[in-house]
Amino acid sequence: MAIDLEEAPVITAVKAPDFSSFIGESRALTSVLEMIARLLDNDSTVLITGESGSGKELIAKALHFNSDRRKNTMITVNCGAIPEELLESELFGHEKGSFTGAIRARIGKFELADKGTIFLDEIGDMSPTLQIKLLRVLQEQEFERVGGARTIRVNVRVVAATNQNLEKAIAEKRFREDLFYRLNVIPVEAPALRERKEDISLLIGHFINKFNKTKNRSISGISPEALNLLRVYNWPGNIRELEHLVERLVVLKGDGVIKEADLPAKIRNLELKPDDQLSKDMLLVGDPKELDESNHNHLTVSDAPPKIRNGAPPHSLTPAKEMENVTGPGLSTTNPLNNPLQVGSPASHESSSSLITTLPPEGINLKAVVDRYETALIMSALERCGWVKNKAAILLGLNRTTLVEKLKKKKIYKEDTAA
Ligand SMILES: Nc1ncnc2c1ncn2[C@@H]1O[C@H](COP(=O)(O)OP(=O)(O)OP(=O)(O)O)[C@@H](O)[C@H]1O
Ligand SMILES: [Mg+2]
Repeated sequence: MAIDLEEAPVITAVKAPDFSSFIGESRALTSVLEMIARLLDNDSTVLITGESGSGKELIAKALHFNSDRRKNTMITVNCGAIPEELLESELFGHEKGSFTGAIRARIGKFELADKGTIFLDEIGDMSPTLQIKLLRVLQEQEFERVGGARTIRVNVRVVAATNQNLEKAIAEKRFREDLFYRLNVIPVEAPALRERKEDISLLIGHFINKFNKTKNRSISGISPEALNLLRVYNWPGNIRELEHLVERLVVLKGDGVIKEADLPAKIRNLELKPDDQLSKDMLLVGDPKELDESNHNHLTVSDAPPKIRNGAPPHSLTPAKEMENVTGPGLSTTNPLNNPLQVGSPASHESSSSLITTLPPEGINLKAVVDRYETALIMSALERCGWVKNKAAILLGLNRTTLVEKLKKKKIYKEDTAA
């Protein structure tokens, strides 16, 4: 009898957050992703801090869209961009006639975000009067519309962000200490790009691919000299600055390899020191076979999921096509979690590539079967994360070291990095 694996705990327990919009595999980034993963099923208020352009809004979106609240709305309010007198009505709504110009009643953002998330961006810019009102909402989950007498209750998760140093703002009496503690239940810090320089190549590759597609250009890569300068630069505007620079370079140059001379003077004129971690590798994007051969070594950043090179038997991964032949079309190495496994015929369990779910009369080699199951799930996680091991480890609930050990043992390599 076939077992419906969609019912089995091993399948249903896996609810993987989608972090695909985050590029990078630095420790600084993966600790943030681990933190987000831990916060998804919890309604505590989160305060995201970090420099301008460092990814605070992306983190807020990941918190909302990976949680159960994603079925409802995420409302963003930029507290710094709206004048104080309008912000109150924007947040809490108003009743008809409550002030000149209030010709009809209006529902506020807190009500719109009911059962969802409200993202209060630039919270450090909120006026002291509104800070008191916000404090009450955080404490009681209730408020009144401007000019209204009725108390409105909402169920809203509050995520706030700021690039200001709120402790300093408290010392300068610009920000209420009690509100700070209410907001800062769970602090998350978006790392500055200069603290995760090891992610720069991946980010550049990602943005070149993105702008090649959206701007219809065909940049094939970036020279090692230019890449080294971009690694040394300290990126005060963080990822947004990098993204805009790559967009400009891709649009203006159009094709070929981005070189040192293409960079803006403030980066081109930087001095490289001997202790800077310099690379001799050209960064290439897209399909390596279609790229010019050059004398440089090269790293490749491709949008297509990298293929694996098979390791040695007995526990190496079998290519998806072969797997299909043995086990039927229900099994896919690309995403086993979305495909209920088919029960292998008793005759096929000897095959090195079958995954079976019922015990055949003559028995099985349990270790080998479990091992293959594990391999298929690991492959799925790696492919989903573009082979970023830190992210795959999070999806699998492993720590990175354990995943790396398993890959070594199973002899699973990304094709372009295999010996
Ligand atoms: N890890 C990442 N990988 C890829 N892109 C990223 C990453 N983090 C941020 N970005 C991109 O960088 C840009 C800036 O991110 P975001 O708007 O979230 O920053 P922010 O901290 O809110 O900035 P600001 O303080 O200026 O409001 C966005 O286009 C975002 O998609
Ligand atoms: Mg922002």
